Amino acid sequence: MTMRERLQELEERRREAERGGGEARLERQHGKGKLSARERLDVLLDPGSFVEFDRFVEHRCHDFGLNEERYPGDGVVTGYGTVDGRTIYVFSQDFTVFGGSLSEAHAEKIVKILELATRNGIPVVGLNDSGGARIQEGVASLGGYADIFLRNTLASGVVPQISAILGPCAGGAVYSPAITDFIYMVEGISHMFVTGPSVVKTVTHEEVSFEELGGAGVHASKSGVAHFVHRTEVEALRGIRRLLSFLPSNNAEAPPARATEDPTDRAEEELLEIVPDRPNQPYDMHRVIERIVDDGDFLEIHERYAGNLLVGFGRLGGRAVGILANQPAVLAGVLDIDASLKGARFVRFCDAFNFPIVTFEDVPGFLPGVTQEHGGIIKHGAKLLYAYCEATVPKLTVITRKAYGGAYDVMASKHIRGDLNLAWPTAEIAVMGPKGAVEILHRREIEEAADPEARTAELEGSFRRAFANPYLAAARGYLDDVIDPRETRARLISGLSMLADKRDRNPPKKHGNLPL
Ligand code: HXC
Repeated sequence: MTMRERLQELEERRREAERGGGEARLERQHGKGKLSARERLDVLLDPGSFVEFDRFVEHRCHDFGLNEERYPGDGVVTGYGTVDGRTIYVFSQDFTVFGGSLSEAHAEKIVKILELATRNGIPVVGLNDSGGARIQEGVASLGGYADIFLRNTLASGVVPQISAILGPCAGGAVYSPAITDFIYMVEGISHMFVTGPSVVKTVTHEEVSFEELGGAGVHASKSGVAHFVHRTEVEALRGIRRLLSFLPSNNAEAPPARATEDPTDRAEEELLEIVPDRPNQPYDMHRVIERIVDDGDFLEIHERYAGNLLVGFGRLGGRAVGILANQPAVLAGVLDIDASLKGARFVRFCDAFNFPIVTFEDVPGFLPGVTQEHGGIIKHGAKLLYAYCEATVPKLTVITRKAYGGAYDVMASKHIRGDLNLAWPTAEIAVMGPKGAVEILHRREIEEAADPEARTAELEGSFRRAFANPYLAAARGYLDDVIDPRETRARLISGLSMLADKRDRNPPKKHGNLPL
C-alpha cells in the first residue's frame, strides 16, 4: 500500500468513527431535541480546538455472542480542547452507540482522561448521556464504573470536575457525577436516579414519572443534586464555559484574574437604602452582592435550592472570590439543614481551589423545630461550621444586619480565623434577638407588670440599645472595623490585596473527620 492509500484508509476510518451509531439513531437523538456527542463538544470548546483520543477503541465483549456489533470509539468521544484558550479534558457519551452505555473499553477511555487531568492539573468536563452499565458486559462494566469512581475521587480537590447530564443517568452511574464538583442539568432532557420509576413502583408502590423522580427541576430545588439548570443544552454548555472562566486549572493555582473597568473605589449610594430600618423586614441580598462585585456579575450556584443562603462566584478588583450570603428574603436568612449542606460544600470547594471566601451575613440563627432537629440540624450545621473552620484561604466577612447565636460563630467569625471582619452600622450581634432575650431574662418581671406588653416593649428597646449593635464586638476586636456601607467594595478589594499572600496551614493529618 502506498502512503496515499494508507492516508485514504485512515481518513475513512476516522469518518466511520465520527458516524457513531449511524444516521437513523442520530436522527432519533435529534428528534428528542438532543445534540450529538460531537455537536456538544463543538458548543463547549473553542472552535477547532478539539483533539480526540482513542477514536479507534472498540469493545472486546463476545460473551454469549450478545454483542457482535462494533463501533469505533465505543460510545464515548474523549480528548482535550480549549475554553477561552485554556485547556480542558473532556468526555462526551454518544447515545447513538448502545445507548451511550458503559463497557469496559468505554470506561478505560474515561479513566485515561481522568488520569491525564489529575497528572497534568487540568479540569475535566464530562458530558453524560448513557443507559448505564453495558448489559452485555456484566461485571466488566460494573468494574469500569468503579474504576471511574476511584479516579473521580482521586481527582477531587486536585482539578475541578464538571458534569453535564444530557440524557439518562441511572443506577450506580449517578455516582460519578455526584463525586464531581458541579452538575449541570437540562429541563426535559436530563434524568438522574438510582432506581427508575418502574423499580420504584415495584418496591414502594409509588407511581412517579421520570421527570418527577429525577428531572432537572427536582434535582435543582428538592434534592440539591443539580448545581445549575438550563432550558437548553446549548445554554448549559455555555454555562459551563462561564463557570470555567472563574476556576483555576488545579489546586496549585490561584483562580484566574480578569481585568475590569469597574473602579475599585466605586461607592454605591444605594447600599444605604437596602437594609430596612425595621429589623424584621426582609430585603434581597442579591442587591447587596450585585452592587459590590465587579460589573454586578455574580454567578449563582444552586439558585433554586436552599434560597436562604446564596452561594456563587464573583470578582472584586479582578480577583475571583467565592461568595456566601444569608438571604433575608427567604426564611429570614435562617440556617437550616439544606443551607448548611449547600454552604459547606461550597466553602470546601473554595478552600480546595484557592478562592478567597467573602461572606455577607444577616442571619437570625439556626432554624428551630422538630423536623430540623430530627433531620439532624446538629450534624448538618456542624458541616458548615467545620468547613469554615477548616478553610485556610482568606476569609472576609461583612455583617450587614443580624449575626445571632451560633450562626454568628459559624459565618466566618474572627474566632474561626476570619481574616477581615467588617460590619455595617446596622449590624446586630448578640446571643439572640431582643424579643427572645427579654422573654428569658425578664419573664417574671413581665408577668407581674401592670401592662406586660408595654413593659416588654420597653425592655426590648433597652436590650436593642445595649446589644443590637456592632460596637460591643468591635470593642473586643472581633470586628476589625465598622464601615459605611458605601465603602464595602473598596474595603473588600483592599482586604483581598492585603491577604494575597496569606499562608496558613492546618495541623498535619491524613484527613479530618468532617461530621458527615
Ligand atoms: C446496552 C443499551 C443499554 C444498556 C440502552 N441500550 N441501554 N445497550 N446496555 N444499558 C441500547 C438499546 O438497546 C438501544 O439499542 C439503544 O441503546 C437506545 O435505547 P432505547 O431504549 O431505544 O432508548 P430510549 O427509549 O431513549 O430509552 C433509554 C433508556 C433505556 C431509558 C436509557 O434504554 C433503558 O432503560 N436502558 C437500560 C437502563 C438500565 O437499566 N441500565 C442499567 C442501570 S444499572 P439500539 O440498537 O436499538 O439503538 C447501572 C449499574 C451501574 O448502570 C453500576 C455502577 C456501580
